[in-house]
Amino acid sequence: MKRLLSALLAAGLLFGPVAVATAQDGGQGPVENDAAEIEAAATGEDPAAEVAEEGHAETPHYPLKRPEELSWTFAGPFGRWDLGQLQRGLKVYTEACAVCHSMNLVSMRSLTDLGYSEEQVQAFAAQYQVQDGPDDTGEMFERPGTPSDRFPAPFPNPEAAAAANNGAVPADFSLLAKARAVERGFPTFVFDIFTQYQEAGPDYIHALITGYDEEAPAELEIQPGTYYNPYFIAGPALAMPPPISDDQVEYTDGAPQTVDQYSRDVAAFMMWAAEPHLVERKATGFVVMIFLVIFAVMMFLVKRRVWANTPH
Ligand code: HEC
Repeated sequence: MKRLLSALLAAGLLFGPVAVATAQDGGQGPVENDAAEIEAAATGEDPAAEVAEEGHAETPHYPLKRPEELSWTFAGPFGRWDLGQLQRGLKVYTEACAVCHSMNLVSMRSLTDLGYSEEQVQAFAAQYQVQDGPDDTGEMFERPGTPSDRFPAPFPNPEAAAAANNGAVPADFSLLAKARAVERGFPTFVFDIFTQYQEAGPDYIHALITGYDEEAPAELEIQPGTYYNPYFIAGPALAMPPPISDDQVEYTDGAPQTVDQYSRDVAAFMMWAAEPHLVERKATGFVVMIFLVIFAVMMFLVKRRVWANTPH
């Protein structure tokens, strides 16, 4: 009897909160709807309109297509930058993307990592005019850039950037390659732990830049001033027009001058900008793993020795 009672008590404790929670959920129906509406507003679409048009209640999941997995030289535990690729990526960034996208956290002096000499970096920085000051009279003035300056931003503030781009602010590139990734879902993300897949950001950028070719499906409504791209993470279309076309940027090392190659190079460059010490991190990690293995073996031998004369 006592057993039965305590079993009932335990069951009550376990399931009581669940029952209460379910009851509350039922009572909060409208609140949930609100959340759905807010989410829909954030992604810029009207679920009610969708339902009315398509005749079913399913909201589409973005991106409509998953990025292709490319092979990057910096992938895996022994990853290395391809400096030629990073230099080409810098060229693509400065000639095709920097008119809209800033890279506020990256100093020009770090370009020596890409294999440029100090003089080359100085010459690169001097192409830009940056604002400095105030001088002795309290005035701001312009001077040629120096390696210690950050990459100059194309717009003075986000409002100006949005005004020039149909209301959408072009994202800052400093961390974008690590900030954006398409969720991989179960079970892929489990395998990713073993394959050490960490290139979702560059894969996404490449897919997005090369993903403008397709026609939008008829049932999708594309807002004026936006461009259909099934790889875009937040909706069916984005405010960025196709940013680059074949032969737009001249390569001197014989690499193909195609949108595909440009987007690979600029994605690799953005990965470097977001994580300049990626290669060092991986190399250190590998040494640490070797150390841990040796240390574990040593500890095991020590343990055997210490307990050798103790009878079990
Ligand atoms: C004419 C201005 C313009 C140019 C040039 C441009 N972009 Fe954009 N870009 C935008 C705008 C505006 C957005 C924001 C789009 C939105 O949120 O709807 C954007 C967004 C992006 C995004 C982020 C998408 C996301 O998930 O939020 C990436 C990545 C990107 N651009 C890469 C590039 C690359 C690489 C280049 C150079 C090859 C480039 N852009 C050139 C205007 C531009």
